Amino acid sequence: MEVKSIGVLTSGGDAPGMNAAVRAVVRAAIRKGIDVYGIYRGYNGLINGDVKKMEMRTVSDIIQKGGTILYTARCAEFRTKEGVEKGKQTCLKYGMDGVVVIGGDGSFEGAAVLSKAGIPCIGIPGTIDNDISCSEYTIGYDTAMNTALSMIDKIRDTAQSHDRCSIVEVMGRNAGYIALNTGIACGASYIIVPEISYDINNIIEKIKVSKKLGKQHFIILVAEGIGNIEDMSKVIEKSTGIETRATVLGHVQRGGSPTVRDRVIASQFGYRAVELLSEGIGNRVIGLKDNKTVDYDIKEGLAMKKEFDKEMFDISYNISF
Ligand code: F6P
Repeated sequence: MEVKSIGVLTSGGDAPGMNAAVRAVVRAAIRKGIDVYGIYRGYNGLINGDVKKMEMRTVSDIIQKGGTILYTARCAEFRTKEGVEKGKQTCLKYGMDGVVVIGGDGSFEGAAVLSKAGIPCIGIPGTIDNDISCSEYTIGYDTAMNTALSMIDKIRDTAQSHDRCSIVEVMGRNAGYIALNTGIACGASYIIVPEISYDINNIIEKIKVSKKLGKQHFIILVAEGIGNIEDMSKVIEKSTGIETRATVLGHVQRGGSPTVRDRVIASQFGYRAVELLSEGIGNRVIGLKDNKTVDYDIKEGLAMKKEFDKEMFDISYNISF
């Protein structure tokens, strides 16, 4: 089958670098003589027919921008049969022979269902959380970590000036990748992630030992999903006698201009997605393995397991006394 036209959408939480991926998809397709439609606000745009033809210049001046020019949303209706049928009808109406879905694992489930309904889809991992099991990397992760790090460095300035302990919560949904790596990079005294069980008494003990060794200020990095860090901060203050403050970094981590890594990987992923669709291949999710772009059947990709790097956790623990 000759592929004449494809669509592209961004879905789920936005992530810096999504625009670079959209740009790559649009440009790679047009270079192959394939028309591209931008689908707005994720699967909602597919359901409501909110689509616009994209040209080479539609994606000019976006590679450096955070957010997504296609807007994004989480769409409950696409989890229903009727929603998928409406989406399929939009594809048929515009003659889309395939769709590139940039998002997280929830978005890929939609891509698998639409592929099964006869519209080949390719998933591109785009989420700051790095929690797509079949890929070593997801678009937005590096930028989010660098944003978090620059803020934690500022928190450290004030923690140092006041001899305080700062508890900082970073994003990641149920995954601790952002916390682990920013924690190492900011020299956190302790990193708390969902993947590794923790005991608050061990953390308190470590702070006390470090204090005896002359350490005067402390940063505890916590992944979201662990619990209320305000409560944790009260417990630590009471048990250690060190004034403690809690900071939730929040959505600031989702914004900003993407880093080199995010722009480059987004461009690679976008290019690969178009290569696959142009060959009539669908129902695949792209991933990064040993720094090379690979692709898997969506269901198989989603079922894969990603090991949490316990060694990195141990390194952090031992060099932060
Ligand atoms: O998946 C990205 C992410 O930012 C998570 O880290 C976080 O748990 C979630 O999205 C927040 O979602 P929302 O923007 O809907 O509040």
